[in-house]
Amino acid sequence: MFLIPTLTVWLYVFHAVCQGQQASSLWRKPNVTMTRADRVSVAEAALEKAITFLDTSNALFPDPSDSYGMSGAFYSQLAEFDLATSQTKYADTLQQYFALASTTLSQQFQAQNFTGEFIARSINDGLNYGHGAAVAYATYKTGVFLQYAEQAWWAAKAFTLGQNDVNSGTVPSKDFTISPTCGGITTAGATFREKSSTAPDINVLATGSFLVLSALLAEATGEDLYLEAAKESADFISNHLLNAKHVVQDGLSVRANDSCALNQEKDQESYNSALMIEGLTILHSITPNASLFESIQQMVPAAIEYAGWQGNNGIIANGGMPSSKSGDLNLPRTLSTVIARNATTPVLRSYVEAYLGVQFNAVLDLATTSGSNIYAGSWNGPPSSTFSPGNQTNAIQVLISVINLHNETLATSTIPSAPGPSGSSGPTHSLWAFWLLWVYPRAISTKSVQNWADRRRYIGWSAPSGRRGVRDRSITAPYSEPATPTVPVTTSPEKGGSQTSFVGFAAGIHH
Ligand SMILES: *[C@@H]1O[C@H](CO)[C@@H](O)[C@H](O)[C@H]1NC(C)=O
Ligand SMILES: *[C@@H]1O[C@H](CO)[C@@H](O)[C@H](O)[C@H]1NC(C)=O
Ligand SMILES: *[C@@H]1O[C@H](CO)[C@@H](O)[C@H](O)[C@H]1NC(C)=O
Ligand SMILES: *[C@@H]1O[C@H](CO)[C@@H](O)[C@H](O)[C@H]1NC(C)=O
Ligand SMILES: *[C@@H]1O[C@H](CO)[C@@H](O)[C@H](O)[C@H]1NC(C)=O
Ligand SMILES: *[C@@H]1O[C@H](CO)[C@@H](O)[C@H](O)[C@H]1NC(C)=O
Ligand SMILES: *[C@@H]1O[C@H](CO)[C@@H](O)[C@H](O)[C@H]1NC(C)=O
Repeated sequence: MFLIPTLTVWLYVFHAVCQGQQASSLWRKPNVTMTRADRVSVAEAALEKAITFLDTSNALFPDPSDSYGMSGAFYSQLAEFDLATSQTKYADTLQQYFALASTTLSQQFQAQNFTGEFIARSINDGLNYGHGAAVAYATYKTGVFLQYAEQAWWAAKAFTLGQNDVNSGTVPSKDFTISPTCGGITTAGATFREKSSTAPDINVLATGSFLVLSALLAEATGEDLYLEAAKESADFISNHLLNAKHVVQDGLSVRANDSCALNQEKDQESYNSALMIEGLTILHSITPNASLFESIQQMVPAAIEYAGWQGNNGIIANGGMPSSKSGDLNLPRTLSTVIARNATTPVLRSYVEAYLGVQFNAVLDLATTSGSNIYAGSWNGPPSSTFSPGNQTNAIQVLISVINLHNETLATSTIPSAPGPSGSSGPTHSLWAFWLLWVYPRAISTKSVQNWADRRRYIGWSAPSGRRGVRDRSITAPYSEPATPTVPVTTSPEKGGSQTSFVGFAAGIHH
């Protein structure tokens, strides 16, 4: 009796797999031909160059009031480099950096737990330190890193709406009334962009960074506190900011009189989708299941294909003005996470590798002068000889992302020929069908215990439905009421809000 829904969901994934997901012939240089040893060297040289720009008295890049979030992002990269190369080269260095930065930020900038109001105000700047500390803890298993990660988490938690805040309509940190719902669905799980008591914006940089840190802490500690927070953030983004094309939008206002208006100022940027995918991918490592897997399979190609942040050549170029288009740290980091954590079908994996190959070759060929180890913000070039923390960390992320992409035996990456158009059948299709119907379910069932009742629930959720269609809101559109959802919507009266479960995990569904 479970065969039909099972087939439905797998065929749905199969269908997605067979559409596109092939490196475009217009992409610039998708093959990585540099040996792994050389890739390690080039990443290390870029890290070492950046280290020379840290202020030795506080381990921060110059002008912390503007750049301190970049220093946190850079700490992540030092740990990620060690993780990718199985070393502890930066273990001691990072302990010193965190201690110095923590002291300086709290004593000179009143930024407790890495999160400031008078220094650059964005909550995600502090969360960058949380990410760095969580990755350092995963890499080195040194307890002090876990403490730093938890500090950054608590700081952002104070600016994240819980269901109790939503019910009361107020939070201590803000001086306005909060919309308890948008489109009839709770706003719990939203993280404010900044600390200022009058700033009403929720954005994905903050909410998605909190999702990722919560998921990393859930993985590191096994504590429900973090897992529940991660689920709530993912539900918020899914319910309010994921459009019908599976692309994540920037943010919205939760001030009651703003009617949940979407952020109209920003272009769509690749980091929004990236943070959501990264969070779901870590959750999938913790609790592998088909609905999370399917969401990742939809959002990754949507991000790779999205014309809003890249040209036909495939090089990431965020931002409105052609002169100021720039690469991105989050999308490469996310895509390498998706690969490292096996959260893809084989076809999607090759597609992602080719896309990362494009970014890597662009960064090396177009954004730097050989030997300078300084990288420009635009990955379409030209190179810049001026060091900028943001430009450098964006590029470093790409360099780290490809370290373990292919082995030396595969120095020339293989871009598989795409399966034929849907409808054509043959050995390739049979292989994918075999993988999807047989291999993947077994692969995930070895990692988690799932019962059939659970499977039925998320299969019901993840089947294609009308709800996705009605979420096609443009970034400039006012918030519109979703049409009656056809996916399970559960009301949990004791929590006082109507909730749509994202991956079958919002509170109501388990009651
Ligand atoms: C800082 O983090 C600690 C947990 O390590 C927490 O108890 C405390 O409330 C946090 N303070 C602020 C201001 O975020
Ligand atoms: C909501 O109120 C704030 C001040 O209380 C005001 O600045 C803002 O413009 C109002 N929003 C709308 C949509 O009227
Ligand atoms: C899917 O994974 C999420 C996130 O870890 C988890 O909360 C949820 O219970 C899982 N769903 C099922 C049906 O196992
Ligand atoms: C990913 O899959 C490969 C092959 O199936 C396996 O060897 C590897 O351990 C997996 N990695 C993770 C992180 O699950
Ligand atoms: C970052 O790179 C961009 C474009 O490549 C360049 O215009 C800008 O000047 C760089 N930033 C700094 C601070 O050098
Ligand atoms: C590459 O191959 C070496 C030796 O066979 C192995 O130790 C290493 O784990 C491989 N790396 C990746 C990313 O597959
Ligand atoms: C990339 O490598 C594959 C496999 O060796 C080859 O078939 C393909 O032509 C290469 N693509 C480019 C653009 O060089």
